[in-house]
Parts: sequence; structure tokens; C-alpha cells
Amino acid sequence: MLFDPSEIGSLRIKNRIIRSATYEKSADIDGFVTDRIIELYRILAKGGSGLIISGNALVHLSGYSAPMQLCIHKDHYIPGLSRLTEAVHKEQGRIFIQLVHGGRQCFPFLLGGRDPIAPSAVYDPSIRVMPKEMTNEQIWEIVYSFSSASRRARDASFDGIQIHGAHGYLVSSFLSPHTNRREDYWGGDEERRFHFIEEVYKAIRSEAGDGFPITIKINADDLIEGGLKIPEAVRIAKRLQYVGFDAIEVSGGMYESKVATVRKGIKSSEQEAYFKDHSRSIKEAVSIPVALVGGIRSRSVADMILKEGYADIVSLSRPLIREPDLPNKFAEGKEKADCISCNECMRFSKLDFVRCMQVAS
Ligand SMILES: Cc1cc2nc3c(=O)[nH]c(=O)nc-3n(C[C@H](O)[C@H](O)[C@H](O)COP(=O)(O)O)c2cc1C
Repeated sequence: MLFDPSEIGSLRIKNRIIRSATYEKSADIDGFVTDRIIELYRILAKGGSGLIISGNALVHLSGYSAPMQLCIHKDHYIPGLSRLTEAVHKEQGRIFIQLVHGGRQCFPFLLGGRDPIAPSAVYDPSIRVMPKEMTNEQIWEIVYSFSSASRRARDASFDGIQIHGAHGYLVSSFLSPHTNRREDYWGGDEERRFHFIEEVYKAIRSEAGDGFPITIKINADDLIEGGLKIPEAVRIAKRLQYVGFDAIEVSGGMYESKVATVRKGIKSSEQEAYFKDHSRSIKEAVSIPVALVGGIRSRSVADMILKEGYADIVSLSRPLIREPDLPNKFAEGKEKADCISCNECMRFSKLDFVRCMQVAS
């Protein structure tokens, strides 16, 4: 089943394994594609993932959340991004770009000392910053920055896009009752909290055209008191399908909830796939493909997720940092990823670029 083809919108994928978006810290200082990134993605494509989601790529400078992240907020990024897609396509791979605005989870030192922006001024204890509430004009500017970015993505020959709507970044913070306390078109109840992503979708669809796959990664649970919980996440998923999204990837957590998104020390199969009950609830509510990410380490667990209807596609991040060819190894009979979920690959400030610290570089 894991190696049965799947479809996302108009795109056929050779199997049911996605490389989940993984920030590489490998763009140059201005966010341009480097040879290191191209080689990383070429190896990933060769390694057998049916679809690669790029590391989060910046749509607007006010949302710069990670040094040396990919950028797509200006046309001059298109040639480098085209080299990246060309390298993946040469290996018969498929690649989406993940579009992000960091929202309240941006350190001011990355914003030239300015405060981050967010739907509401809700203090973020994890980065110790009070964000500025966005004006209506600022909100529309960011909506359109997502659509211009998607036009650039299409021009650079990406096979589709994924909006980063999870983990507490801007889109996620509009959906969450914890971070969206507005009382206007953009917030006040769950229908209005949905307006931001709905407007982003509509703007992207009109810019990128019909048939271009538009997908999203969402939180099924913010894992924080007062945050988004599964009943609302299920209703959000139904709305996402209704407006036209082609697939949903299910995750959870935000900076404030610490490492709940990227759980450490996964040793037993019971600890794997830690959002699987959430993804099942979402899968039961929609007919578009649902991908599940978080702690999947074994071939048998991946098969079980598909067979027992927890998700349509499995998505992996850390295991592919260590073994970019894990999908091929699974196909050849390997049962368990070598990744030990130590999270050393997440020590971004210490690492020159994202890599597995268990493997000699
Ligand atoms: C080094 C690193 C970078 C990540 N960067 C992103 C990112 O750019 N976008 C995103 O949605 N998730 C990102 N994640 C989260 C992963 O996509 C995934 O949701 C999480 O690691 C759990 O999956 P896993 O157990 O397969 O690693 C990152 C995770 C790691 C370890």
C-alpha cells in the first residue's frame, strides 16, 4: 500500500511517502538557493519520496522567522528556485514549495529590530515578544504576498504549493482562538478566524490558475490551553475542502507548546505517529487526501496508518535528514528508520546547516 500511487489534485505521485517540509538553514544570507540546497533535494528525490515539500519559504519580509531560510518574496528568486525544481525533476521527483509568514514567532533581531506582526497582540513567552496587532491594510498586503509567491512558485516549475498553516506561524495564528482575539472580519468566532486562509486561498487560486495543486499543513491541536482543538480543526478541514484545497497535512503544536510538534525519544511503535487519532478524525470528515506527519519511523506503522484509515499519505521529516533514501530502503525491506529522534538537528543556532548529528559529516 505504501508504494501504491496517489494523487494530489491533478498531480500523480508514485507512492504514499512525502518528505515533510524541513527548514535547511542552507539558503544564502539573502534567501537565494545555493548549490548545497540543490544537492540536498537532488539526493532526496533520488531517495524515493513520492513528493518533497521544501523547507518553509518566506512570502514577505515581515515574516522572516529563520536565518538562511529560502525566500520567494521577489521575482529575482525565480531563477535559483528553477534550478532547484530542475534538479528534482531530473531525478523524476516531484516538489512543492512551502509558503510561510512567521507571524508572532519571528525574533525581532531577524526583523531589523522591529516587532513581529500577528492577528492580535498576544505575548509569546517562548520568544519573549509582544507582537503588534495587524491593521486591515497589513492583512491584505500579506494575503497578496502569498498569491504573488505562488505565481513565482508556478513560474519556477514547482509541482504545487503547501501553505504553512501549522505550528503557530501567521496562518495558524489566525485560525487559533488563543492567538486570534480580533473582533472584525478576521476574527471573533471560528467562521471569521477562517477568513484569512480563505482569502489567501482565493488570491492564490486566481494567480496560480486552475489545476495547480494548493495544499496546506494545519494544526489538529495547538497543544496549548485555549488553543485550537480537534473538533474545530475538523470543521476547519471541511471548510478547506469546500473552498478548494487539494490536500491537508496534519500536525500540531506551536512554539509556546515547546517540542510537542517534534517529539523526542520515539523508541516504540506505540510512540510513533503521535497525531494519528487527529488525522483519522480529519480524514473521516473530508474526501481530499490527508497526510499524517509526526514520529513515523517504521515501515509497518506506515502501512498500518494507510490500511487502518488514519491517513492517505505518510509524511516524514527527521528520518529523511538522516537517511534521504529511506523510502527506497523501505521498498527494499528495511523496517525501521535509523533516526533516534534526538532533535540535535533542531539546534539551529549551533548548526551551520541542518544535518543529522549522529552521522559524521
Ligand atoms: C530541522 C527541522 C526543520 C523543520 N522545518 C519545518 C518547516 O520548514 N516547515 C514545517 O512545516 N515543519 C518543519 N519541521 C517540522 C516537520 O515537518 C515535522 O512536522 C516534525 O519534525 C515531525 O515529523 P518527524 O517526526 O517525521 O520529524 C521541521 C522539523 C525539523 C526537525
